[in-house]
Amino acid sequence: MTSASPRPTSLRQQLARRKPIDQLQAEAAAGVDGVPLRRSLGVWHLTMISVGATLGTGILVVLGTAVPLAGPAVWISFVLAGVAALLSALSYAEMAGAVPTSGSSYSYTYATMGEGIAWVCGWCLVLEYAVSVAAVAVGASEYVDETLRVFGLHLPAAIAAPPGDGGVVNLPAAVLVLLATAVLLPGARESAWANTLMVVVKIALLVFFVVVAFTAFRSGNFAPLAPMGAAGVTAAASRLFFSYIGFDAASTAGEEAKDPRRDLPRAIIASIVIVTTLYILVAVAAIGARPWTSFSSDEASLVRIVVDVTGQPVVALVFSVGAVIAIASVVLTVLYGQTRILLTMARDGMVPKVFGTVSRRTGTPVPNTLIVGIVVAVGAALVPLGELADATSIGTLVAFALVNVSVIVLRRTRPDLERSYRVPLFPVVPVLGTLCCVLLAVFLGAGTWIAFGLWMVAGAVLYLAYGRRHSTLR
Ligand code: ALA
Repeated sequence: MTSASPRPTSLRQQLARRKPIDQLQAEAAAGVDGVPLRRSLGVWHLTMISVGATLGTGILVVLGTAVPLAGPAVWISFVLAGVAALLSALSYAEMAGAVPTSGSSYSYTYATMGEGIAWVCGWCLVLEYAVSVAAVAVGASEYVDETLRVFGLHLPAAIAAPPGDGGVVNLPAAVLVLLATAVLLPGARESAWANTLMVVVKIALLVFFVVVAFTAFRSGNFAPLAPMGAAGVTAAASRLFFSYIGFDAASTAGEEAKDPRRDLPRAIIASIVIVTTLYILVAVAAIGARPWTSFSSDEASLVRIVVDVTGQPVVALVFSVGAVIAIASVVLTVLYGQTRILLTMARDGMVPKVFGTVSRRTGTPVPNTLIVGIVVAVGAALVPLGELADATSIGTLVAFALVNVSVIVLRRTRPDLERSYRVPLFPVVPVLGTLCCVLLAVFLGAGTWIAFGLWMVAGAVLYLAYGRRHSTLR
């Protein structure tokens, strides 16, 4: 007599299989190989992680590329992108309070829409996190150059830009990523302290900018408000969405937060309010101090404004060093988020187990951090910023849209689940959040969509080759 072997799962069944929320939480508590992450982060650190991951290259560099698209109405573009981000942030807050794991939206979609959508989301998160870190670090090299310029020095093009941008390798970007990797290794709490210091510096830097720029404010700079019309304002909003990426980083700390149900929703909402306020103030102050036609996409615009207004070259030094610190904290926190998402995916068998190994000594995923750091450093060294930034935005918009949908699905499938925060005006907020994400994604160029399509095809191949076979739910 032959023993009955289990019936193989069809691809369709496997893609639809959802991970029970209780199982997600039990696995998070148990950790990988019995080593859970260390719970050491309070609401202050979590808020700083989200602000740290958000405020950086978008406002310091990408703003300069958005002004020529929108004209003086660039601040309205910030408001539009901010509304899309805020609606999604509310959905993130509900999901993070209900399912506090390190997988962020990947875990939310696994619990609500099944393995196939979870993989799509996880793969988009790699764009949002790993690829954005590379983009962010590329932005830092412009400010390193500004710093050197004060001393009459200039970074040789060969080591200041990637091949597509007239150089050979972007060395400052790669070094920044490797330094952040080194800071992440000892422990989440140590990295969180380093990040908090840097966040204080960057908020002070932007407040300083606003104060200085307002002294040269000319209301005439705002007329005509939108020379390129609504299409220009929306296109700029799509581009500036990059500057909001990262507010969800606190949700990747679900397994290291001391009281995740209470603190994650608070941290996410606080961070989005802080960054949106700063962005709008900076945009208004920048246009007020400098006619929009003088903005160019290939310079560190904010530092030029501060130098023009104060007439003090030494201010350029202080501002540029501050900007590099600001960008460094984005690199640190976004790298952190990527390692935690991969850790969760490894626990589910979606990526190799090495990404889930936690060091007993530090309580952090050491091999994962090293692999991510090295791969991202290579990307930052070799790929130009523009391509990276837009690709990042599209991946993020898809992930955010999926989180909005998850809120709707989970309210229907698990109305009983304990939720420490609920989105207001349900289902209006998540429905509008989804629509805003789709709208902004549509306005990203055809080239970005093609790149995104290729990225998803690569993801599908990887899933079929690895995740489908190793999924722990199988
Ligand atoms: N939001 C992040 C930044 O602007 C990616 O640097």
